[in-house]
Amino acid sequence: MKLFKNMPNMRKVPQNPLLFMWEALYGARMWAFISMTLAFGLQLMKVYVPVFFSRMIDYFTQITPSELSWSKIAQFLAAIFIAYISQSIFRMLRELWEENNVRNFMDAKIKMFAVNYLAGHSENYFSSQKTGQLSQKVVNCADKSVRAHALISRLYSNLFLALVNLYFIGSVSLWFLLLVIIFGTLLTTASYKTSLKLRELNKKVDNMYDDFHGALADSISNALNIKAGGSENFEISFISRFFNKCAQGRLAVFDQFQNISRIQQTIICLFEICVMLLMVKLWYQGQISIGDVTLVLILMNKVMSVFSILLGNIFELNTTLGSLQAAMSPFIIKHEIVDMPKAKPLKIKGGAIEFKNVKFGYENKKVFNNLSFKIKAGEKVGIVGASGSGKSTLINLLQRAYDIQSGEILIDGQNIASVKLDSLHKAIALIPQDTSLFHRSISQNISYGRLRAKQSEIKQAAKKAYADEFISELPKDYQTKVGEKGVKLSGGQRQRVAIARAILKNSPILILDEATSALDSEAEKYIQKAMENLMHNKTVIAIAHRLSTLKKMDIIVVMDKGKIVEQGKMEDLLQSGGKFQHLWEIQNKF
Ligand SMILES: Nc1ncnc2c1ncn2[C@@H]1O[C@H](COP(=O)(O)OP(=O)(O)OP(=O)(O)O)[C@@H](O)[C@H]1O
Ligand SMILES: [Mg+2]
Repeated sequence: MKLFKNMPNMRKVPQNPLLFMWEALYGARMWAFISMTLAFGLQLMKVYVPVFFSRMIDYFTQITPSELSWSKIAQFLAAIFIAYISQSIFRMLRELWEENNVRNFMDAKIKMFAVNYLAGHSENYFSSQKTGQLSQKVVNCADKSVRAHALISRLYSNLFLALVNLYFIGSVSLWFLLLVIIFGTLLTTASYKTSLKLRELNKKVDNMYDDFHGALADSISNALNIKAGGSENFEISFISRFFNKCAQGRLAVFDQFQNISRIQQTIICLFEICVMLLMVKLWYQGQISIGDVTLVLILMNKVMSVFSILLGNIFELNTTLGSLQAAMSPFIIKHEIVDMPKAKPLKIKGGAIEFKNVKFGYENKKVFNNLSFKIKAGEKVGIVGASGSGKSTLINLLQRAYDIQSGEILIDGQNIASVKLDSLHKAIALIPQDTSLFHRSISQNISYGRLRAKQSEIKQAAKKAYADEFISELPKDYQTKVGEKGVKLSGGQRQRVAIARAILKNSPILILDEATSALDSEAEKYIQKAMENLMHNKTVIAIAHRLSTLKKMDIIVVMDKGKIVEQGKMEDLLQSGGKFQHLWEIQNKF
């Protein structure tokens, strides 16, 4: 088994599933071609066996028992033996080649591409997708491509077999060839339309399954909500609606298959009757020998079964390509947020930030109309404001999670829309409102700040983030897995892991979207100390709810409904009798 590490990425993403597969084969096309040649050899050997048999029969009909030559018999048997041996060699080589060098390659390449491409989609894209559905599509995209490749490979193998068969049938009499052509055409045309219907139908069924998987994943991840609400029965009937649709769809596909099979059986039956009649006629007229009759009987029977296998392959290929097309949808949609053609890396001088007449809204929600403000390099700004006033949106825009509709966002005088995205993301460290971690070890989670960090550096960062102590009390300390999204840690612990990650990243700009949930004073003390270590020498934007965080800020910006309504030092704002003082008093009442 080969391990694929440094395979070429997809150079483009064609919309047509066949072209998509062809592109995915880039880097393994030579192997695919070798496998095709082996298939041809294999089919040739398969047909040679009945040819030798018919020659043997002809030999027997031409001699009397006393004329029997054992050396002649030995020659026939040797030829048949060689044909069988070479068949198994060809088959083994081909299966090995194709499985390892072509299909495994394709599978790994598509999965790597899909995971990579998915990560490039914008927040906007993910906000309207279901995680379960997307992960299903990554798997399906690779699985269906591999399946379609296997079918194409079977298809051309069978096509070779049909052609070689036809060649030998034609060499007995062209009348037989004519019969095959007439009935073959009839079989193909009669089934073609049904196959197109089948493809459409299958695409629909796959979309139904995607919906079902999405709903299922959503339901599983909300299992606690279901329990809390005692709504198990409601949930089962909600999910079963999706499942029932899938079952109906599958039944319709099955029906179409049955139709195709009935048509095929009728045509094949008529064909065999005509072959028999023609054979009797030609033999009666002395145009063909008994050996020829045997050969035709074997080959004609084979050729029609190859035809129906071929058609079966085509139908299945059609439905698989339909499924592949449905699975490809997240990967043919262009990324919304990409580097501009001549984007340069962001050059950080001190981390000064400026929003200039920024206009932005979500699909159906305007947030900023003409927002402008400046943050000097190294300045620490606290943002406060009512829920929904646009605080998180502001920091999303600074990271270019969404593109603004007009205006400019500048970092050290460079428009973030025209710098390389990865350099922008490197320059900013974010501690989000709700820290969600990977279901991996604490060590791996922290090292996400700098992937090549040594264990000693990870530990150092955790110490500065006041996380080392609680980590060393965990069952496997730094190697402890934190559960999906980090559920095995408390909110405060998760935040300290995120701070350690940001310390390791050491970016010149730090963004903190503080959680609104109350922390006990012990946890708050640690987080505060960790933040002090982190904020040193950096430009900081902190969406802050706690007095302890706000006190550390040089300036406070008060937002309301997408506008900056107050700005200044905390002491001044607390005296001003304005919005901040009002917010502050409300908060301290509770
Ligand atoms: N992905 C989205 N799609 C559509 N509208 C959104 C989206 N995210 C936020 N909004 C809307 O934009 C407005 C600003 O939201 P934002 O998340 O910036 O508020 P916030 O100030 O961070 O609030 P909070 O203090 O509750 O976190 C809200 O009215 C919100 O409903
Ligand atoms: Mg928010």
